[in-house]
Amino acid sequence: MTEKLRSVAIDGPSGAGKSTIAKAAAARCGFLYVDTGAIYRTVGLAARRAEADPHSADDVAALLPGLDIRFDYGPDGTQRMFLNGEDVSGPIRTPEASMYASAVSAIPAVRAFLLDMQRDTARTQSVIMDGRDIGTVVLPQAGLKIFLTASLQARAARRLAELAAKGDKSALAEVTADMARRDEQDSHRAAAPLKAAEDAVILDTSDMTLEESIDAVCALIAERFGGEAGR
Ligand code: DC
Repeated sequence: MTEKLRSVAIDGPSGAGKSTIAKAAAARCGFLYVDTGAIYRTVGLAARRAEADPHSADDVAALLPGLDIRFDYGPDGTQRMFLNGEDVSGPIRTPEASMYASAVSAIPAVRAFLLDMQRDTARTQSVIMDGRDIGTVVLPQAGLKIFLTASLQARAARRLAELAAKGDKSALAEVTADMARRDEQDSHRAAAPLKAAEDAVILDTSDMTLEESIDAVCALIAERFGGEAGR
């Protein structure tokens, strides 16, 4: 049974379109989509609610034993995150939660705490998992690794449109600065920094539409695994 499982690791910076692209590609190719950023965001939210300093390894590590973090998939297939039984899928998406997630994700104890949950999912199902260290740390044996990236300008413009659609009136300069700060934090941390695995295919989507990006990922999947890619 394990033989038939396939895993695809998609890593890259914030706003490269990883989750939208990975989710659509997973649906098209019959894989389970796992958004690991949502899991880190849930720890970030827990830190904020506990009024812990998200940069303090000791303060955040002290919270971990009290956290019950789970995820499942709603009727429409959307990944839902639960923190101690509460559905926090909405609250983890605010810009503030993003900054908390980025800070706590630099703490090695947090990464260790979440590792098994991510690996266990890929042990039982064919997954497309997106994050920052999936190809390098979580699933180093993934059959296909994609490093999905885009210029800071392209990523900021996309994030701005996403926020505007939700009624958020953030300015481009602010969104660009936030994103640059997160890039810096995610790429320069000591624990599992954001970087492409040596055997990753680099896909730059700066000049691609969403459809073109999904097609490109699906083409890579078909090329690597053949026609019967998913479950
Ligand atoms: O993909 P995202 O923006 O939802 O991720 C939120 C934060 O979590 C991001 O700043 C980096 C971190 N993260 C990580 O360190 N490792 C992962 N596998 C996924 C996310």
